Amino acid sequence: MGDRDAIAAAVHHLGIGRRSIRGYKREAVPQALLRDVLGLAMRSPSSLNTQPWNFYVVTGEPLERIRAENTRRNLERVPSTREFRGMENYEGVHRDRQVGIAKQLFGAMDIARDDKPKRIDWVLRGFRQFDAPACIVVTYDRILVGSDIAPFDCGAVATAIVNAAWSKGLGCVINSQGIMHSEVVREEAGIADDQTIMICIAIGWPDESFPANGVVSTRKTIDEAATFVGFEA
Ligand SMILES: Cc1cc2nc3c(=O)[nH]c(=O)nc-3n(C[C@H](O)[C@H](O)[C@H](O)COP(=O)(O)O)c2cc1C
Repeated sequence: MGDRDAIAAAVHHLGIGRRSIRGYKREAVPQALLRDVLGLAMRSPSSLNTQPWNFYVVTGEPLERIRAENTRRNLERVPSTREFRGMENYEGVHRDRQVGIAKQLFGAMDIARDDKPKRIDWVLRGFRQFDAPACIVVTYDRILVGSDIAPFDCGAVATAIVNAAWSKGLGCVINSQGIMHSEVVREEAGIADDQTIMICIAIGWPDESFPANGVVSTRKTIDEAATFVGFEA
């Protein structure tokens, strides 16, 4: 197989096969491997090659402390201090898709609609970043806050991290649950004042027996998403 065929096969398998991973083996991820993942991901394009991203890769005790404090604050309903603007509530098709993935995950995990304890347990798992052995906090240079392009570049590098990790047998879930309480993450990860927190990515070895890891999320169709202009047919 020529190089091009090999690349096509790898990209195809990645595109079709990658899923968010929400159940991990306890096994640690070596720093050298995480460096490989970041090295590959940092080949991502960015506006004017500005590469506004930075990474705080957290494991061990600091990560355990983030999980514990995140959980405590969420149980005590401490308001989130996330550093990016999100939507309060989605409506219409966006809400439908949000409900759709929740139904798929709850179905796989056997969580009934009215089973409050199990639902709460699932949410808390999220705030613990699904107990992944490591977490990559993606930040960007605070001086760029206010432009849309730096968060766009962070999105590109986050996807590249997930894909690079998958190519090495690692699984990830990009998540905003883990950075709900930014002071906690700032303190434990030692995030510099000139950085703003964009997102975090839980990373580790997928637990193949964890039911939610098998969920293949749905996508809208190409015809719903794309408008082709100027084509003959
Ligand atoms: C910006 C962003 C934030 C996300 N936050 C969470 C989260 O807090 N918790 C979670 O379980 N998944 C989170 N996800 C994962 C999405 O739910 C997931 O990517 C989507 O449902 C598609 O599924 P797939 O990644 O398996 O294809 C997030 C993804 C992105 C891109």
